Amino acid sequence: MNAPVQLDPREDAWAIPLDRIDVSNPHLYQDDTWRPYFARLRRQDPVHWCEQGIYGAYWSVTRYRDIMAVDTNQKAFSSDALMGGIVLRDLPMDMRRPSFISMDPPKHDEQRKTVSPIVAPGNLQRMSATIRERTNRVLDNLPRGETFDWVDRVSVELTTQMLATLFDFPFEERRKLTYWSNVASANTRAGTEVDSEAKRNEILDQALDYFRQLWEERAKQPPRPDLISMLAHGEATRDLPSRPHEFMGNILLLVVGGNDTTRNSMSGSVLAMNAYPDQYRKLRGNPALVASMVPEVIRWQTPVIHMRRTAMEDTEVGGKTIRKGDKVAMWYISGNRDEDAIENAEEFIIDRQRPRQHLSFGFGIHRCVGNRLAEMQLTILWEEILKRDWPMIEVVGPPVRVYSNILRSISALPVRIPG
Ligand code: HEM
Repeated sequence: MNAPVQLDPREDAWAIPLDRIDVSNPHLYQDDTWRPYFARLRRQDPVHWCEQGIYGAYWSVTRYRDIMAVDTNQKAFSSDALMGGIVLRDLPMDMRRPSFISMDPPKHDEQRKTVSPIVAPGNLQRMSATIRERTNRVLDNLPRGETFDWVDRVSVELTTQMLATLFDFPFEERRKLTYWSNVASANTRAGTEVDSEAKRNEILDQALDYFRQLWEERAKQPPRPDLISMLAHGEATRDLPSRPHEFMGNILLLVVGGNDTTRNSMSGSVLAMNAYPDQYRKLRGNPALVASMVPEVIRWQTPVIHMRRTAMEDTEVGGKTIRKGDKVAMWYISGNRDEDAIENAEEFIIDRQRPRQHLSFGFGIHRCVGNRLAEMQLTILWEEILKRDWPMIEVVGPPVRVYSNILRSISALPVRIPG
């Protein structure tokens, strides 16, 4: 399974020896062939040891309830960057950029508390009018009757505008955020711009300089409700620039967290409507269903494929003993397809009874800070789409997917709105 998958994935997944299944292979997500591998693991070996993964040996936790058990047990399972952090790929110590997503309590809790007011209900309420106005401007400018890239024109544009607002980042330069986000989250690969960790560092050093300058300005001014000012004035974070790796780690956490994930849900929502035209018709017939469609699309798309933990003590999960020091991957993408937890889990169904029963935002102390903001952006997008006389947003070519086992990213999606 280390080379690009050659066989029909449905045959390969059920034919190869169980111990050769390596779901950390980013090709599975780039080629969108991951489903049968996880279906087999859930059925035959739900807590699975892979000795020769392309990022080293690791456990895969693939069932909904086992993922919950790991995600909510931070005593036994560490997120700490010094232990290995939150993704399977291990980085050399001097290249690790700790941020509060890759910290354990108490440091995690102190830093999280500094930024979480940005998404407090009152603040979300205040932001909603701006989001709606921008969404309308973007939708009004879309062509009718001709092919365009939904990712670039809508998903990237809206999420990057949002991010620029959260940081109070110079608006005209906002695509820098998109670029740094892409660079930070790519799996390194020969022949691409990010072909090594050294190259990634070189590019992100530019981001570091840029944010350092913004930080210095904000630190001198009175506190304001933007993320840089909050961090620059926060008791637990104001000295971050003296720890450049941690400084950059936290900035990148907010850039990637607030950008790629929501962006891919926006692109995924258009794919879902095309794959399930009956659901689109149902939605047009009853726009109030946007409320349950949005969490369903976040489940169906599962923008974060896996999060990793490192075992701090011997612990039993799903009948297997995970040994102290082992790497453990929680495959959200698989837990969200677990039929024991979610009925007809493979299907996109916009009026589920419990649409928020999914793993896409994680659980426990690291549960996504921005979940309500992400839902609000998607809700506004679809409310405004449904006010238009668009019979469909037709996908007219295959989505281009990214080589990553962390983010389920779509980098291009050709669409056409009938004229
Ligand atoms: C659909 C969109 C999104 C998805 C699917 C998503 C998913 C996730 C996941 C899986 C985690 C880790 C949970 C865990 O380890 O248990 C996480 C954490 C986080 N997310 Fe999101 N996210 C989304 C949107 C956002 C937005 C819009 C923001 C920023 C405003 C954001 C900021 C964060 C932060 C700061 C953390 C770290 C929380 C911590 O460690 O305490 N996310 N997110």
